[in-house]
Amino acid sequence: MEWLSLELENIKERGLYRKPGTVESAQTPVIVKKGRELVNLSSNNYLGLTGHPYVKKAAIEAVKKYGTGAGASRLAGGNTNLYDNLEQKIARFKGTEAAVVFSTGYQANTGVIPAMAGTDDLILSDELNHASIIDGCRLSRADVSVYPHKDTTELEKILRESKHNKKLIVTDGIFSMDGDIAPLPEIIELVGKYGAMVMVDDAHATGVLGKHCRGTPDYFNVEVDINMGTLSKALGSMGGYVAGSSELVDFLRNRARSFIYSTALPPPAVAAASAAIDVIEKEQPAKRLFENVRMYKKGLVEIGYNVTSETQIMYVMVGDAGKTCDVSAELERMGVFAPAIRPPTVPEGKGRIRTSLMATHTADDIEKALSAFQVVKGKFGI
Ligand SMILES: Cc1ncc(COP(=O)(O)O)c(C=O)c1O
Repeated sequence: MEWLSLELENIKERGLYRKPGTVESAQTPVIVKKGRELVNLSSNNYLGLTGHPYVKKAAIEAVKKYGTGAGASRLAGGNTNLYDNLEQKIARFKGTEAAVVFSTGYQANTGVIPAMAGTDDLILSDELNHASIIDGCRLSRADVSVYPHKDTTELEKILRESKHNKKLIVTDGIFSMDGDIAPLPEIIELVGKYGAMVMVDDAHATGVLGKHCRGTPDYFNVEVDINMGTLSKALGSMGGYVAGSSELVDFLRNRARSFIYSTALPPPAVAAASAAIDVIEKEQPAKRLFENVRMYKKGLVEIGYNVTSETQIMYVMVGDAGKTCDVSAELERMGVFAPAIRPPTVPEGKGRIRTSLMATHTADDIEKALSAFQVVKGKFGI
């Protein structure tokens, strides 16, 4: 076991050592860490729904009625009517025939991708796709072609030359570390032209993007074959889902191993996600989120940062991993929590401070964050 200390030393020397910081409060716009209040720019709780009274009440009621755990996998008795209601609600919200829920978004990707493509097939995956997509591709045993970020010319070239049986294009909807949006209309054109399938991972767009806040397809007014997402970000709960045709859902329930062989989500998580969709439809909290996005982006640009993202995820590029940690630590000293994102989460040399806004941030929170970013710009020359 001596190799462990050598590996850890090596990780530390490269500025890549990670240890979860402990937060002593809920996922609110201002959190408490080591007894200090910090403006929170790290949360994917974009709409603030983890603390919404209606969502919390639904979770509490579910515990009272169904208890704390599901007790079994979905197919082996862990499937309550809460689940059926949630899947029907997701399908209605997404405008599809059906939906199936997994225990995490990570499990959705690692279950769905190998179910949809295997030996003799080709998966075409954007180079900045989330790690769970990469792992799903690895598990599939299909040929995997990674295309340059959002480069549909290169994507078409690969499709044209492919002699594979089935071809699956998979892309993040909003890219998790960059905040930009996948070119879905162009991708869908290629799907039709080359007889491929398309899967979008809308983890960061669900509840946020589009006229009805349904995600990237709603934003572009297009349809995709496999509409995957998580319940763990804007929906303020836990879990992953796929929305699509009834046949697709039926097939995934039979073939996605992470669905079959994992315990169902606890009842409060299922009830909270369901309640969160009600809130999104009734209160449209994304409107408030995008007011904050506009204010924050304008501020960062005025300070001199090059910010092109149109969404709630924006980053400040630093480069070197060690320096990224120093910038993050300085921000924290000034009362702003924005963790350092380093390889392998982002490519080598592209360490950054990834920030995400919440609908519940106040103008004061945003101004405080901007003042801190003004200071680190001068201090670190970023
Ligand atoms: C794009 C994307 N897909 C999937 C996941 C995994 O979702 P979950 O956290 O629900 O497992 C994440 C989470 O970070 C993500 O950013």
